[in-house]
Amino acid sequence: MKDPLLVVSDVRVSFLKEHQKRLFGRERQQVLRGVSLALEEGECLGVIGESGSGKSTLGRVLAGLLPPESGAVFINGRNLYGRGKRDAAGPRHGLSVVFQDYTSSVNPRFRVEHAIGESLRALERLEGRVVDKKRRVAELLEQVGLPASCASRYPHELSGGQLQRVCIARAIAVNPRVVLLDEAVSSLDASTQTQVMDLLMELRARRGLSYIFITHDLTCVTYFCDRALFFNAGRIVEQVDDMKNLSRVRDPYARRLLDAVMGIGVQPGDLRRERADLLPAGDGDVMGAAS
Ligand SMILES: Nc1ncnc2c1ncn2[C@@H]1O[C@H](COP(=O)(O)OP(=O)(O)OP(=O)(O)O)[C@@H](O)[C@H]1O
Ligand SMILES: [Mg+2]
Repeated sequence: MKDPLLVVSDVRVSFLKEHQKRLFGRERQQVLRGVSLALEEGECLGVIGESGSGKSTLGRVLAGLLPPESGAVFINGRNLYGRGKRDAAGPRHGLSVVFQDYTSSVNPRFRVEHAIGESLRALERLEGRVVDKKRRVAELLEQVGLPASCASRYPHELSGGQLQRVCIARAIAVNPRVVLLDEAVSSLDASTQTQVMDLLMELRARRGLSYIFITHDLTCVTYFCDRALFFNAGRIVEQVDDMKNLSRVRDPYARRLLDAVMGIGVQPGDLRRERADLLPAGDGDVMGAAS
């Protein structure tokens, strides 16, 4: 069998707590508590969990932006944080990222062609060849369902859905093998969400992409993902390998999350209390810092 495209092995991350009980205290908040997962080629893996559960922190580790305290990340068989490889993180490893906040992801003072052009310049450096940027920008815009005329527009002249398409074009410009989507459709309205997810599926089929889809929205996961991991307080608490079996999750937290979304008697407020109950005594305050 082929090796997985991306492997995360027992990754741990903690941050110094902002409010220390003692003066000069060094207490840390455990945010990732031994996360392991594997992503196969062409797969779409959903990572679902409540606000503050550590999803974006995991995303930053995968994007090469945050070295874990322990554990390892392998993309394409290469250790992302191996010795001497720090400069090799990101596009060089074949991973691109699309974030939730498309407005701050692109510089408002530059036109769309410049935003996508930045990625193409990174590709030029990566591959040591010159890219016909004007032609490539038009091709990429077409691939994400935007007219070529968008190239000369400024970000504020586009709708949220259009701007997120620009961010997707920018992410795929470097020919990645994995795209990490951190709440990438969460700020869009329901019909635009579906359109953008359809676009992502089409791109997956066309370019053989794999996705890690971080979200707190279970409905999007069921629509878009092949597999899902439930994340709670920095740990994977349940894995669903076939979305048809989603309703059979057993972990109490995943169960409550599911019931809340499917509307079977549990209110989202109960979820929050449940999560606190599930945390081992004295095991950090991931809860407390959740928004
Ligand atoms: N750089 C940092 N320094 C200190 N604490 C941090 C840092 N980054 C994240 N945290 C804390 O780690 C915890 C997890 O944050 P993270 O952003 O990963 O959550 P999340 O699951 O993505 O939440 P959301 O769904 O709201 O985006 C939070 O309590 C947050 O305050
Ligand atoms: Mg987040």
